[in-house]
Amino acid sequence: MLPLIIDTDPGVDDAFGLALAAAGAKVDLRLVTTTYGNVPGERTAGNALRVLEMCGCAELPVARGADGPLAGHSLRAAEYVHGRDGLGGQAGRMPLRARPVEPRPAVEVLAGTLLASDEPVTVVALGPLTNVATLLAEHPEAAGRIGRLVVMGGGFRGGNVTASAEFNIWCDPEAARRVIVRSDLAVTLVPLDLTHRAGVSEEWMAALVATGAVGEGLSRIAAGNWAMYERMLGERRLIIHDLVAVAEAVWPGILRPERVWVDVEDGHGPARGATLADRRRYRQGPREGREIDVAADFDAADLHERILARFGDR
Ligand code: BDR
Ligand code: CA
Repeated sequence: MLPLIIDTDPGVDDAFGLALAAAGAKVDLRLVTTTYGNVPGERTAGNALRVLEMCGCAELPVARGADGPLAGHSLRAAEYVHGRDGLGGQAGRMPLRARPVEPRPAVEVLAGTLLASDEPVTVVALGPLTNVATLLAEHPEAAGRIGRLVVMGGGFRGGNVTASAEFNIWCDPEAARRVIVRSDLAVTLVPLDLTHRAGVSEEWMAALVATGAVGEGLSRIAAGNWAMYERMLGERRLIIHDLVAVAEAVWPGILRPERVWVDVEDGHGPARGATLADRRRYRQGPREGREIDVAADFDAADLHERILARFGDR
């Protein structure tokens, strides 16, 4: 079974990603670490406990991590997408799990879990990359146990939080650059360019609800997003970014990758947090950045069906 760790900032779409990893007992989900991002860190940690309670994961360790970016610039949360509580207004109706967050900080628990594994572990990062960058700096030998790092982040045709930056990268561009460009981790980036093509229909959501209580709970969490996406896309579809990244971790290769030279802008101009792809065939001098896998193509019907089948499995 695939050993998996999720680093997350729940978050409506994070909740879907967590639930997919927890569904059907086919994945060996070993740890969830949380980070600030969509809402502040104290809320994302509580939200992870709520979502895992809904999914029946009473004992899975949850450790709370970074409360802000490495370089400490001021933050804008994404409450306009995820609601003030981060779970589309549903948090108050979702009981907190009895087992609380671990007493030790996320990066320490993450390092311990990685070192205790006798096989390489897939880590999926669904929020700002601050925790992963800190792991690289403080526990490089543990980071060496990461077999694969799947990152939901970036956008090569523009961003969502600014004209050029995607939210997760924009939250902590210094961390993103260290992880994506300056490390030797086997990174697969799942950018907006792809997640925007993987939006789900109302029929799909109805089918998810029909799989049971978790599907119903997820549908309630996402209910407030339909109108926003309809305004944005001009059609009634819901973009669930983090679910797509977790799907790639659960079914490696379901998103066809392209090898791309990628860099991250960590300067303080208008392109802060942008991801750049160098696809030049002819150039002078060396390339900037690092060649990594970028999820580029997929079969949407297959992806959507597999996810429904996995939720139906429980
Ligand atoms: C990413 O930003 C967050 O708001 C979502 O949870 C997702 O991880 C999309 O840009
Ligand atoms: Ca997220």
